[in-house]
This record gives sequence, structure tokens and C-alpha cells, in this order.
Amino acid sequence: MTFSNNKVKEIFDKEADNLLFWYLDALFTRATENSRYRKKAIKSLNITTKSSIIDIACGTGFNFKIIESYLNNSGMLVGLDISPKSLEYANGRITKNNWTNVKLVSINIRDYNPTIQFDAAICTYAISIIPDYIETIDKIYNLLKKKGRLAIVGMKISSRYPFKLLNSYIDNYYLKWGINIHRPIIKYLKSKPFKIEYYEDCHFGFEYILGLKKVA
Ligand SMILES: C[S@@+](CC[C@H](N)C(=O)[O-])C[C@H]1O[C@@H](n2cnc3c(N)ncnc32)[C@H](O)[C@@H]1O
Repeated sequence: MTFSNNKVKEIFDKEADNLLFWYLDALFTRATENSRYRKKAIKSLNITTKSSIIDIACGTGFNFKIIESYLNNSGMLVGLDISPKSLEYANGRITKNNWTNVKLVSINIRDYNPTIQFDAAICTYAISIIPDYIETIDKIYNLLKKKGRLAIVGMKISSRYPFKLLNSYIDNYYLKWGINIHRPIIKYLKSKPFKIEYYEDCHFGFEYILGLKKVA
């Protein structure tokens, strides 16, 4: 089942305040702001201090610290999310770290039409949640400059034994959150002018890290 955009916004606005839950969730999925999965994804973006980056569905800004370790408070980072409440926490992170190069945009990615293109985009733990994922991938493609890079960390079912025995339990849990791990995301990305430069099956096979380059 795919939730509507309003339902997704409602869920993440409501749960944004549940800080203990998100911290435990991030710990369990190895997705804290020091996550090595996030680090690998962000490394694949080849960020320099002059880069412009967009973090699509950035949530509370778990990627920002690692991205800023490359930007060093230069260049530009746009954090976009449909949930204003999540962005309040992202803003807290920005204030706490005195970053002056980050702009937050509270919008459905579908409706975002900036006048610039970006050197790199990242989308972590969100492409299986965003209702219009095909439209979102098309949008990300258009947001990138030629040779721009895209990194995705996604959720999936595991093909590794014995972890795959948990697949149906995890699938059911995810469905309650509107997370659909059966979307043919990689197949769709491959149908576009993207070159896959990095792929890693991680977290017992329940997650993947993808690094892509726009080739046309
Ligand atoms: C599980 S959270 C992941 C947040 C963050 N990327 C991370 O790695 O921690 C999924 C996020 O997707 C956002 N989202 C879902 N649909 C969206 C849409 N259509 N446009 C923008 N953000 C969206 C939600 O509000 C939520 O913050």
C-alpha cells in the first residue's frame, strides 16, 4: 500500500517530536548521523568546498554533519522535506553547528522547481516512502547538472540467510509506515542516463548504498 502525500506528511510531522524513537531507529538501522552507510553514500558524491548539494527528503538532517565535513561551511546545501516539523529539528542542527551555507525548503519534492541545477543530490531512507517515486527520480535527474552525482541509501528485503527469514516481518512493519520495499527503484534508475558507480548491499542485506553519475 502506498500512502498519500498528505498522510506521509502527517506521519512525519507527528513523529518528528519522538526523538527517542528516531534515535533508537537510527541506532538499530545503523543510520545515526555518524553512520558508515551515510558516509559511504556521501563519499560517492565527490563533494568539494564549492559543491552545491541537495538532500531530498532530508528529515531532521541526519546527513548534514557528514556533508558539511566536505563543504566546510562553503558551497551550498539545500535540505528539502515535506514535513515542516522534521525541518524544525534540521534547523536546530544548523543553528547548533553555526552552518551558514544550508537552506531548508519545506515542500513536496514534486513541486520543487529551483532556478539552478545541483552538483550532487542525496536521498536516504526515503525513496521507498515518497509516494510518487518515479516522478521523484525524474525530478532528481532534472535537478542535477550533467555529470552530477546521486547517492541513495535505501531499504530492501534481504537475500542473505538467515536474515531473509525476517523478510515478511520487516515487510509488514514497513507497510504500516507506508514504506514499500518492493518498488523497482534500481531498475527504473538504470532505465535513465545514469551510470551506477557504486553499489553495496549492507545491513545484513536489508539496505543498499547506491552511487550514480548522470551521463547525459
Ligand atoms: C525515514 S525519513 C528519512 C529522513 C532522512 N533522509 C534520513 O536519512 O534520516 C523519510 C522522509 O521523507 C520525507 N518525505 C516523504 N515524502 C516526501 C515528499 N514527497 N517530498 C519531500 N519529502 C518527503 C518525510 O517527511 C521524511 O522526513
